[in-house]
Amino acid sequence: MNHKMTWRQITASLALAGFAVTPAHVLAQKTVEQGIQEYRDMLADGNPAELIELEGEDLWKKPQGPNKVSLEKCDLGQGPGVLKGAFATLPRYFEDAKRVMDMETRLAYCMETLQGRDRAEITKKVYSGTAQPATEMEALAAYVVAQSKGMKANVPQSHPEELASRARGEKLFFFRGGPYDFSCASCHSIDDQRIRLQGLPNLTKSAPAQAAFGAWPAYRVSQGAVRTMQWRMYDCFRQQRFPELNFGSQVSVDLITYLGVQAKGGTMQATSLKR
Ligand code: HEC
Repeated sequence: MNHKMTWRQITASLALAGFAVTPAHVLAQKTVEQGIQEYRDMLADGNPAELIELEGEDLWKKPQGPNKVSLEKCDLGQGPGVLKGAFATLPRYFEDAKRVMDMETRLAYCMETLQGRDRAEITKKVYSGTAQPATEMEALAAYVVAQSKGMKANVPQSHPEELASRARGEKLFFFRGGPYDFSCASCHSIDDQRIRLQGLPNLTKSAPAQAAFGAWPAYRVSQGAVRTMQWRMYDCFRQQRFPELNFGSQVSVDLITYLGVQAKGGTMQATSLKR
């Protein structure tokens, strides 16, 4: 039996026990954040994402694709193969691609250009299902972000394309549509708003934006999986009843750029633990 399975079984039984033994009136008072804090305390010296980071390191170094090369020369903005601090300054403009890219879009670009792989194959399954093993993208993301842990978010705003990406992202954030006429702001621009028991951070303010941006990718305890920032955008699009968000699309990158700039100076904590 491998480590990961054991961990999943433990969290599953903890969750069951927690819900089974907690009287309804107590459950109502206890926020999800408090519950997660308890998990964090229990796991003080072991985040299951660390195992996925190791898988990501193997994938980073593994020759793949028609060109049979690894990703070790992938340039995430700090030079080929430089991972330290790279994630804290993404999304950013890349001269070779002539566009602003977030970490995941850039990883896909490196798989395409360095390894010679087909984009359709790379993006076919970027998110794992509940309790499935991490996908290649999730494992690579976990590995890359670990090299920026503790650093300050510093998403650049010097190239005109970077400014344009943030401006579009801001517009998108406030753009209302869909069957409920929701925008991101409907759920994320009011202090102390909740949906069911989940806190909804006010992402228009610096401190909550810093905490939210710095937390992703995160290990979702309830799903037994590493969830990336692209996934976070995808899932909020779903909650907003918007059309399915394409992985690496301009819209996804622009929203992440907007959030990243809002979060300037915040501490990168990924991979953190989330509900
Ligand atoms: C219908 C309400 C709703 C809408 C609309 C919505 N979200 Fe969310 N968002 C949520 C909920 C609920 C969570 C927390 C989910 C959880 O913990 O499972 C969340 C979480 C997040 C987080 C992570 C916060 C953290 O602290 O970890 C970010 C970032 C985010 N949303 C961004 C967006 C963006 C960008 C949009 C617009 C594309 C958006 N959301 C639209 C409900 C919404």
